[in-house]
Parts: sequence; structure tokens; C-alpha cells
Amino acid sequence: MKPVDGAAVALVTGAARGIGAATTRRLASAGWRVVAVDIGDAPDAAPYPLATREQLSTVAAEFPGAVVDVVADVRDADALRRAVATAEDEFGRLDAAVACAAVMAGGTPLWEATDAEWSALFDTGVAGVANLARAAVPALLRSPHGRFVALASSAAHHGLWHLAGYNAAKHAVVGLIKGLAADLRGTGVCATAVSPGSTRTDLLAETARLYDLESMEEFASHQLHERLLDPDEVAAVVAFLCSAESSAITGSVVHADGGFQP
Ligand SMILES: NC(=O)c1ccc[n+]([C@@H]2O[C@H](COP(=O)([O-])OP(=O)(O)OC[C@H]3O[C@@H](n4cnc5c(N)ncnc54)[C@H](O)[C@@H]3O)[C@@H](O)[C@H]2O)c1
Repeated sequence: MKPVDGAAVALVTGAARGIGAATTRRLASAGWRVVAVDIGDAPDAAPYPLATREQLSTVAAEFPGAVVDVVADVRDADALRRAVATAEDEFGRLDAAVACAAVMAGGTPLWEATDAEWSALFDTGVAGVANLARAAVPALLRSPHGRFVALASSAAHHGLWHLAGYNAAKHAVVGLIKGLAADLRGTGVCATAVSPGSTRTDLLAETARLYDLESMEEFASHQLHERLLDPDEVAAVVAFLCSAESSAITGSVVHADGGFQP
């Protein structure tokens, strides 16, 4: 994947592990500069462990001078504005913003869901995406090929059992992207979503735990590939949408789901 124009610059949230880390590695390996954002050590941010500060530093250290790590909580709009400023200060511009950060919660019927679960899903998974858009779009409008990419999910297109809050949050991400793309009409900046199927990450391990499964591998049977996706396979799609070559796509969803069927 060629960078947009010389050393293109991306900001990726949720960059310490999983699909966000794979996206950071893909872009940096292709010559991009990347501001890699994650929450740092925040033991109470979700009912299961999120990424550590050390995991974020480890991803950045693989690309000295090309990836800068920034601890920021996507629920904090000002922190994301500072992260965008870091991209422009360190690397001179911002060409792509990728919203990967989200959390998983559920495992019960909706009427038994807690307030904390609902807040976690929407504050991080929806408001966090909007916060990134509000912080990044002014800078993306200064790029010749600005791109905003958000991770939705197969849960944005189906009602998955005992995941109504996650379903709702991911449907909201798709709605946000469609509205953002409409607002970006005529600017050349594209807004897209990627909907992965079951991908081998800590978030999927948490989903397996909520379902009382012995292993996340049990999700493989829901995909035509009959295997889980690797985070790098999803990152390849995200990286394409970050590139200038994706200019025909805006306001829509790319399904990177291995043929997911509920
Ligand atoms: N893994 C899958 O099967 C799957 C399927 C469909 C969609 N997705 C989506 O892909 C995206 C990436 O998920 P993943 O599977 O790589 O999960 P993951 O748990 O491995 O990574 C999520 C990252 O987001 C970070 N994060 C969480 N809350 C944050 C906050 N408030 N501020 C900053 N960072 C925060 C975590 O620390 C972690 O590094 C998510 O939007 C997820 O909903 C994943």
C-alpha cells in the first residue's frame, strides 16, 4: 500500500493491540507516519483488561521515528485534539484518522444490561468515534486526500444474541459515518466504515467469555472461511481505505468478515 503522497500521516486509536495495532504496523510498514493512540493503564475502563501502556510503547518502538505513541482516552475530546496536534507538530499533516478503539460488553438479554455496560459501549464505541471525527476532520480537510475510517462490525448489520447494546453501538457507528460523509460532500475527504467478522483479538476472547464458550475458535463456524480472521487481514482493508486509491468509496461500509453469517 503506497502512502498518499510522500510521508502520509495517520492517527489510529486502539493502536496498542488487535486490529488497531495491525493497522498501525501496516501503515508504518508502507511508509506512513502514525500517531498511535491508546488508553494506557486504565484498569477500571472496562470489565476486562484493556491494553497496557507497555503494549502501546512496544508497537511504537517497532518503527522508531515513524510511529509516535500517545496515551489518550477516546472519551476525552480534548485529549484527541491534542493527539491530532501531535500529528501536525511531529509530522506536519494528517491524512487519515482511524477509529479502532471500542469495548465489548453484554452476555445478557437487553433488559438485564447494566447502566455501566451501556455507558462503556456508547461512551467509547460511539462518542469516542465522534470525538475523533470532531478532532481530526479540520486537519483532514487540509490534506489532499483526507480519509476517516471507523471500525463497525458484523454486529452493525445483524441482531446478535445477547449483544443488543453492542449491536446498537455498532449500528450507530455506521449511521455516524453516513452522516459524516454527507457533511463532507464535495470536499474530497472520504468517510467509511469497515465491518469485520470474528477476528482473533482480546475483544473476541471477551465475547467468547460472555458466551461461556471454551474458546473464541468456536466463532469460526459462523464464517464461510470456517476460520477466524487475522487482525492483519482486516488491517489490509483499513489501510486501503486510508489510501488515495480508495477515492471512489465514501459514506458506505466495507464488509471484511470472511462471509459472516449469524
Ligand atoms: N475482534 C473482532 O472479532 C471484531 C469484530 C468486529 C468489530 N471489531 C471492532 O474492531 C475494533 C478493534 O477491536 P479489536 O478486536 O482489535 O479489540 P482489542 O480489544 O484488541 O483492541 C481495542 C483497543 O482499544 C483500546 N481502547 C479501549 N477503550 C479505549 C479508550 N476509551 N480510549 C482509548 N483506547 C481504548 C484498548 O486498550 C485496545 O487496545 C473495535 O471497534 C471492535 O469493536 C472487532
